[in-house]
Amino acid sequence: FHVDWDIVTAEKAGFDHFMLKEIYEQPKAYRDTMGARLDPSGTKVVLDEVKMSKEQIGAIRNVHIVACGTAYHAGLVGKSVIEKLARIPVEVDVASEYRYRSPIITPNTLVIVVSQSGETADTLAALREAKRNGARVVAITNVVGSSVAREADDVIVTWAGPEIAVASTKAYTSQLIAFYLFGLYLAQALETQDAAAVAEIVAHLKELPEKVERILEQAEAIKEWAEQVSTHDNLFFIGRGLDFAVAQEGSLKLKEISYIHSEAYAAGELKHGTLALIEEGIPVIALAIQDDLFEKTVSNIKEVKARGAHVFGLHTEGETELAKSVDQVFEIPHTLPLLSPALSVVPLQLLSYYASLARGNDVDKPRNLAKSVTVE
Ligand code: G6P
Repeated sequence: FHVDWDIVTAEKAGFDHFMLKEIYEQPKAYRDTMGARLDPSGTKVVLDEVKMSKEQIGAIRNVHIVACGTAYHAGLVGKSVIEKLARIPVEVDVASEYRYRSPIITPNTLVIVVSQSGETADTLAALREAKRNGARVVAITNVVGSSVAREADDVIVTWAGPEIAVASTKAYTSQLIAFYLFGLYLAQALETQDAAAVAEIVAHLKELPEKVERILEQAEAIKEWAEQVSTHDNLFFIGRGLDFAVAQEGSLKLKEISYIHSEAYAAGELKHGTLALIEEGIPVIALAIQDDLFEKTVSNIKEVKARGAHVFGLHTEGETELAKSVDQVFEIPHTLPLLSPALSVVPLQLLSYYASLARGNDVDKPRNLAKSVTVE
């Protein structure tokens, strides 16, 4: 009697690749990252690991978010979250650029470094630069005891569990959850949101894992999109506001593992140059989730349609207008616009996974890339 068994297959728990397993682990990662940080009353956030006093929070004049790659994209969402909830101005920087631009860091600057591994050399160097200038540093990381975690003043751990695939999925979405929690934490201390507003966001946060499960149940539809996309060498992702932030992550994911060239564009910016690249049949993935920008995004979609693009649209369930302007649609469960990145990125992760698979690539180990980059 012989059983073919190896540790790697066992670790994949029945999935063909770590990336797919990690995509499907997201509902659990969300629940674990929120966990005890949501007060049992369901009305507020408790972040005992952040040791800032009300006075220290009140003294924050600006926030710098610094990270690399996918973690940087989580930071783009983090900026909107903190600015909206806590009304503090936020800048987001790629870590390899940050310290070379003489950033204005004062003791009233809060620096947030985001790193799945907690070992990225540029992110660590940015953290040290921030501390040298007297800023307080909060780390959002997936690895307890990592270098970044050890050197930061406060650490918010994302409980995503080990991420093996080079292309980051559950770590990114857990970073988003960490930003929602931290944004609410600041808002509570600064009283920039009333109790009802906080409770509403908390209620919607709790519903996210189940909504991700509903998206995952429709993976087959995205697989079909991916098969169409995989025959192209160029494509675009467009969106506005938070949809643009998610578009950037979707585009990176696709490039990393499918090697298809793509660009993410703020939908309204296309006509200032990039529209020249839209030709017959080019795929465009259009995110039209943000309610307040919906009409504007649809008019940008019409601009690319008129030039022959094949448009795959992402919209919120119950929305009926988008289908009239695009070739194919995929529905995202309804949530607060601020929380929608935690849902809308999931079909984009699946898209890149299946496109990579269709092209016969090594999904978990893309060429030229490393999981953790510890050199500058
Ligand atoms: C590498 C990985 C990326 C990751 C980036 C930052 O380039 O390939 O997936 O986003 O590093 O990693 P970190 O561990 O700091 O989040």
